[in-house]
Amino acid sequence: MKFKLPRQVLTKELIKVLSREMRKQKITLHNPSKNTLKQIAEGSKVIEKSGLPEHLVRKKLPHNLGHGIFLKLDAKPLLQGDVIAPYAGVVSLEPKNRPDDAAYAFEPLTDIHLKKEEQPLFDKTSTYHPRRLYSLKVDALKKGNFTRFINHSAKPNVVAVLLKIPSSNRYDLAAAPIEVVYFAKKTIHPGEQLLVSYEDGEKSYWSVFKIKPFPMTPKTFTLNSMFHFLRLPG
Ligand SMILES: C[S@@+](CC[C@H](N)C(=O)[O-])C[C@H]1O[C@@H](n2cnc3c(N)ncnc32)[C@H](O)[C@@H]1O
Repeated sequence: MKFKLPRQVLTKELIKVLSREMRKQKITLHNPSKNTLKQIAEGSKVIEKSGLPEHLVRKKLPHNLGHGIFLKLDAKPLLQGDVIAPYAGVVSLEPKNRPDDAAYAFEPLTDIHLKKEEQPLFDKTSTYHPRRLYSLKVDALKKGNFTRFINHSAKPNVVAVLLKIPSSNRYDLAAAPIEVVYFAKKTIHPGEQLLVSYEDGEKSYWSVFKIKPFPMTPKTFTLNSMFHFLRLPG
């Protein structure tokens, strides 16, 4: 698989800005458990090497839905709280309210102020304005990992969680004041599609594209033993 970026990559300048702005906005993310850190570390190695963990498969879907990610039929069920993988992509700071049609992007933090000396580091096109606000964008259009193929559902079995990866951890994971990580929201059974909700309450993902999402649940399309699709009624 072409998409083999295990995690977002943050420069130390960006870590400084994000840490400061999160403090200002009083956003406190809790340190993940040792088990979560271990799963992120192990999963990252697999993504770097082969792109897709062995228990998952990417399949083309009908109805112009593109690809989706499925749990293989011979895999063990994924349990609630299991790490699927970090959402990775190209990281940037974008002026807030710039029209956004990024189909593969997350905005884990918004309302970021940049100091005069910081702005040229992150935004080479705008003239400095002390009140301009920026959003952190993680865009997996060109670079990322298999999580970019996880489709949307209003009844998801995967959830996107914001985590803080502490700077000293026993798994040698690069520190991140904020990172999107996908977890199993409930038991995911072999053959089911992994689905996450793209809607975060405030901003509608779908209104930008002016389409209604295809109503999918993890069982709408499943892998049958021949690795073909079986469309279940209802
Ligand atoms: C993050 S990508 C998911 C992977 C995508 N299927 C692919 O093959 O690249 C998001 C895009 O997938 C499609 N998509 C995902 N879930 C959908 C749904 N429930 N209904 C319609 N399109 C969906 C839309 O084109 C959306 O902009």
